[in-house]
Amino acid sequence: MRPALSTLWGGFLTGLIGHSSAFLIHPYPTGVKATGAFNWTEIPPSRELQYHKCYGSFECARLEVPLDWSNLSNPRSIVLAVTRLPAVVDVGDESFGGTVIINPGGPSGSGVATVLWSGKSIQNVLDGDKHFEILSFDPRGVQFSTPSLACFENDTLRYTLDLLGAGAGSLESNQYALDVKWGIDKSLGLLCAQTSKGRFSDGSTIRQFVSTALVAHDMVEIVDQVDAHLRRQLSSRGSNQKNQQSVLSAKSNEDPPLLNYWGLSYGSYLGNTFASMFPHRIGRMVLDGVVDADDYAATGWTTNLQDNNKTWTKFFEYCFEAGTKCALSNAEITGPEEMRTQVENFLHGLKNNPMPLVQNDNAYILTYLNMKSIIHIHLYQPIQLWPLLALVLKALMEQDVYSAISAWKSWKSWSFPELPDFAPLLPNAPHIPMLSDVFMAQDLPLPTNYPWQLESGISILCGDGDDITSRSKRDFTEYLDLLQSQSPLIGSIWAEITLHCVHWPSDVRPSAKNRFTGPFQSNLSDYDPRGSPLLLIGNTADPVTPVRNAIKMAERHEGSVVFTQDMPGHCAGTTNPSVCTFGILKRFFAHGELPDAGLVCQAAVKPWDI
Ligand SMILES: *[C@@H]1O[C@H](CO)[C@@H](O)[C@H](O)[C@H]1NC(C)=O
Ligand SMILES: *[C@@H]1O[C@H](CO)[C@@H](O)[C@H](O)[C@H]1NC(C)=O
Ligand SMILES: *[C@@H]1O[C@H](CO)[C@@H](O)[C@H](O)[C@H]1NC(C)=O
Ligand SMILES: *[C@@H]1O[C@H](CO)[C@@H](O)[C@H](O)[C@H]1NC(C)=O
Ligand SMILES: *[C@@H]1O[C@H](CO)[C@@H](O)[C@H](O)[C@H]1NC(C)=O
Repeated sequence: MRPALSTLWGGFLTGLIGHSSAFLIHPYPTGVKATGAFNWTEIPPSRELQYHKCYGSFECARLEVPLDWSNLSNPRSIVLAVTRLPAVVDVGDESFGGTVIINPGGPSGSGVATVLWSGKSIQNVLDGDKHFEILSFDPRGVQFSTPSLACFENDTLRYTLDLLGAGAGSLESNQYALDVKWGIDKSLGLLCAQTSKGRFSDGSTIRQFVSTALVAHDMVEIVDQVDAHLRRQLSSRGSNQKNQQSVLSAKSNEDPPLLNYWGLSYGSYLGNTFASMFPHRIGRMVLDGVVDADDYAATGWTTNLQDNNKTWTKFFEYCFEAGTKCALSNAEITGPEEMRTQVENFLHGLKNNPMPLVQNDNAYILTYLNMKSIIHIHLYQPIQLWPLLALVLKALMEQDVYSAISAWKSWKSWSFPELPDFAPLLPNAPHIPMLSDVFMAQDLPLPTNYPWQLESGISILCGDGDDITSRSKRDFTEYLDLLQSQSPLIGSIWAEITLHCVHWPSDVRPSAKNRFTGPFQSNLSDYDPRGSPLLLIGNTADPVTPVRNAIKMAERHEGSVVFTQDMPGHCAGTTNPSVCTFGILKRFFAHGELPDAGLVCQAAVKPWDI
């Protein structure tokens, strides 16, 4: 569920067709200079990890894995894109701690992009007595993994449909919006079922083989291959393998290597699935920004917005507290409620009077739906994005289009030298059809999202969840009301996620064997003695993964511990930083040490502090 790009997952998918991921964390470049484009197709795929230098100081490999883990007589395979930031010490060094695998959420988020953008800051956070290699991969169908989940032949047509949907407006605002989006999603479902793209010669398609259960199998394979690669590295240098202290690596050839993992947002669902399917392969697992797995597996998406209004309330409280540092403050405003009223009046005014955006010989309009999507995405990353959101709102409320667009464009220069471990996720402007491209085109040095991210997201999440194609428009309207009652601001945007699944055909769903629907639980008696109970993190005002989900999920994993970060924002990550959390993570990954249950960590800084 990371925020920003397409609305879909501009966090968890935000909803516009172009949006891609609801539970996706956007990465941001820090530390290591990652550069340039890299042509993945030049690397030959292999069954073992063979790394090649890429993007400056990173290493990339293409790992071939079976298409269907539940039927190994199916000869087809897929190729995963894997990227690692090597540890700062040699693998033979006593302080080498092994490999930590990251998943940034989505579903559909690129692990490769996350390592490139945030790998160094993740490493800074985790390194202490032990030094870790940071690794991630693009899950099946995502970005650089092949075959891709793209359904459209032509990016222009995808974009056109996206614009049509956005133009129809916010789902709750009029029946026409639901009618148009209903039609678009039906069309998208039919397209994905019929397209020749990603289709194998026996008629099956990649879309049937991208379930989270299969990705969990892929992670087992990655862990095995990472371990085999480390062993080869050691033996090629003649090091004594017995020196190796890594949790990940086996003590003897009989002990299986274990997974060290930090999963954010949807990545918590992937981790939860892995822990439930392969408890004996758990090493150290952190679930951060926790999804209610039962609700996700039921295609509910009804347990996300419980703290959304609280997050939005915090925006005004912190802004008011920050005084003149926050652009929305002024001497006449008496309190956060008044500030909120002014902003919400502006927002509601856009329903009937979208604002013209005219600049540099181009014109566009800012609609109510656009503005809500922008706010939605900015709620994920308070430290970095709230000051920006305040500037943008202030400028727009004053009809100062030039300043609003300049503020968005200037995000690249927003850096935080005082906080070296702080790696904001990309403070990217949200995906607003056309607006981003024309008005906010940014020359990013590294990949972030990709054109077919929505198709990837819905292929994964609709297939993971129960089939809801029998839902009628009337049923859907009731569902919309429920989400709107949870969050009047974001409910209708969130509802667009499952609208895709109402139209997701059975022939692109995974087989029953390839879906894991629970129980989501694990018992310590099934763990390897080297493994640890799980560590779960929840923020007290997370806009899309309320802390209660972390508490609920922890009850099913014996011995697991939840701690909270007393702050707004989606996930801890390195984006919503707390010195206390960073210490806990270092000790957990190095020694398996868990904090006391019920611990509350305070924020390192508040928005507008820096
Ligand atoms: C990438 O490499 C492949 C294989 O060498 C080549 O066919 C393709 O044209 C290259 N793509 C780009 C964009 O350079
Ligand atoms: C397994 O895959 C083989 C080869 O594609 C296929 O013939 C067979 O029907 C599959 N078995 C099942 C149970 O799906
Ligand atoms: C996509 O379709 C548009 C409109 O027909 C066409 O102009 C464009 O060249 C096509 N793009 C590609 C990459 O085929
Ligand atoms: C949202 O929070 C505000 C401020 O606490 C409160 O006044 C309002 O009733 C809440 N709205 C909903 C729908 O919970
Ligand atoms: C864990 O233990 C409970 C109670 O003993 C049992 O019902 C459950 O099946 C076990 N779960 C797993 C995953 O083994």
